[in-house]
Amino acid sequence: MKTITTIESLREIRREWQLAGKKIGFVPTMGNLHAGHLTLVQAAKEQADIVVVSIFVNPLQFGADEDLDAYPRTLAQDTHALQEMGVDVLFTPTASDIYPRGLEQQTFVEVPGISYMICGASRPGHFRGVATIVSKLFNMVQPNIAYFGEKDYQQVQVIKAMVTDLSMNLDIVAIATKREKDGLAMSSRNGYLTPEQRIIAPLVYQTITRIKADIESGRRDFQRLVQQQVEHLSQAGFKPDYIEIRDAYNLQPAAFEATRLVILIAAFIGKTRLIDNVVIEL
Ligand code: PAF
Repeated sequence: MKTITTIESLREIRREWQLAGKKIGFVPTMGNLHAGHLTLVQAAKEQADIVVVSIFVNPLQFGADEDLDAYPRTLAQDTHALQEMGVDVLFTPTASDIYPRGLEQQTFVEVPGISYMICGASRPGHFRGVATIVSKLFNMVQPNIAYFGEKDYQQVQVIKAMVTDLSMNLDIVAIATKREKDGLAMSSRNGYLTPEQRIIAPLVYQTITRIKADIESGRRDFQRLVQQQVEHLSQAGFKPDYIEIRDAYNLQPAAFEATRLVILIAAFIGKTRLIDNVVIEL
């Protein structure tokens, strides 16, 4: 595996792959890799000739009161894991390479509508930061396929909308959420949990499965259903940010007759914000 730190060197090697007609699979990450990330890498290995993984903790997608400084940086460990997986290139650009004119002056990409709801309402500017960095990375790597985790369901929808709106020439593949044995969705932020918090963390997924079972058995009083589960999570020590039952295609509030729904949750345990979701086919 080659580690590349500059856009120029990446473009050089990219030209060689293009001349050789290689299909490029790309996994953008912010590092602190866990088994969830590695399922994305595995999918890329199966579907592409060349696999590029990027690690860049993107300041543009963090709010002022969020965990940018504390975000875990584990480059040596990540490099080892990617080497073991047989990744071709690890791209680790610097912030000054990515944002040469500074964050304030940066041209941005914003996907209207879908970026402002749910997580976007709680984290203003977050999806603008995600869409901007992902489009920049796509311009640098020029992949044929890019892989994202379904745990960030709304992020995947924002990126798919961006790719359509900007006529980008690549496929976006969403990979199923990888879970711990007790159901907790794998996330770099799980590392922030104290042992006591870790014990109750699976309640997020249990709440989603309870709502799913209720909907599957015919319940359609979504507001009441959500309210009950918000109370349940609060009593267990969480500070729920939202529980939403939405149309899985466009993330609009779910209509009674919708056939594909997504249940999305964000909840704080202490300072750690956990998110999760499950899609239901009716
Ligand atoms: O999902 C993530 O890790 C990040 O949002 C991404 C897509 C790498 C952009 O910084």
